[in-house]
Amino acid sequence: MFTASELLEKINSHIADLQFIRTPKGLYDPVTYVLSMGGKRIRPVLMLMAYNLYKEDVESVFSPATGIEVYHNYTLLHDDLMDRADKRRGKDTVHKVWNDNAAILSGDAMLVLAYQFMAQCPVGHLKEVMDLFSLTALEICEGQQMDMEFERRNDVKEEEYLEMIRLKTSVLLAASLKIGALLGGASAEDAERLYDFGVNMGVAFQLKDDLLDVYGDAAVFGKNIGGDILCNKKTYMLIKALDHADKEQLSQLEHWITIADFNPVEKIAAVTDLYNQIEVKGLCENKMVEYSDKAMGSLAAVSVSDEKKKELEKLIKELMYREV
Ligand code: IPE
Ligand code: IPE
Ligand code: MG
Ligand code: MG
Ligand code: MG
Repeated sequence: MFTASELLEKINSHIADLQFIRTPKGLYDPVTYVLSMGGKRIRPVLMLMAYNLYKEDVESVFSPATGIEVYHNYTLLHDDLMDRADKRRGKDTVHKVWNDNAAILSGDAMLVLAYQFMAQCPVGHLKEVMDLFSLTALEICEGQQMDMEFERRNDVKEEEYLEMIRLKTSVLLAASLKIGALLGGASAEDAERLYDFGVNMGVAFQLKDDLLDVYGDAAVFGKNIGGDILCNKKTYMLIKALDHADKEQLSQLEHWITIADFNPVEKIAAVTDLYNQIEVKGLCENKMVEYSDKAMGSLAAVSVSDEKKKELEKLIKELMYREV
């Protein structure tokens, strides 16, 4: 059995060797650019780890693992356009380096490439894998649509937020694990438990992403801090701040999420200050712990030895303490 970092190294070198030799270059250059910026590669690593719970020949799932990472990177191209985000992994985003149309069209090409890679999975599981992948891809669109609609609403409930992040983020981690498990020959029950593990881990993962968007260090996180505040993203922290604010704090929060004309630096500072006063960071951290505990429960039910589960347990802890 391999460690997570060994699997990361393997998939990194596999992805680094990919060559997109078709033309026009203008379509494929952004693809090479975004894939060369790395990232944590957690989705392919999760797929390989789930497979490796059952089988050793991990190289036989490099293609679907590449597919899931190419797919994830496609979502980032479109997400950065939708979120008006200028930095990703410490570099300018595709729509900044090229333009909006490049992010749209190179993103579209990446979605197709992702399907091609995914379809190179071992043929015995092809239909099952492609069905899950397609359903997951649709759910992500649904989650992203909810995320956008929530920007314009100020009455989003915690439950709605949790459902939105399950769709936009968790299902991809869950599907990565489930595809790895299915390809590894896991029982249907195990594959489902690993899926649940991924869903719960994904919720904790997105809570942490939202937290780092406010409290992270841009140089480490690789994205501009305060982007969610500027877009009025209904994150757990904003929902809780609106819930727990006193009269004065509520009127200030409402002021900042209503005005159209503002100085970005000032808005980020003011909203962060309100978050600090209302102490929403701790509430967010508690929620993260709740979901990472749930994830551990789902993992505990998977019928492989405790020894084999250690790497996944370690990984989820690292993700909770991450700064990037
Ligand atoms: C960013 O995903 C999008 C979210 C779901 C929060 P990652 O945090 O996995 O990004 P990279 O791939 O490591 O850059
Ligand atoms: C990520 O949500 C969801 C998808 C990319 C599908 P965010 O918008 O929070 O991700 P980042 O912070 O831009 O990476
Ligand atoms: Mg974004
Ligand atoms: Mg987004
Ligand atoms: Mg984010």
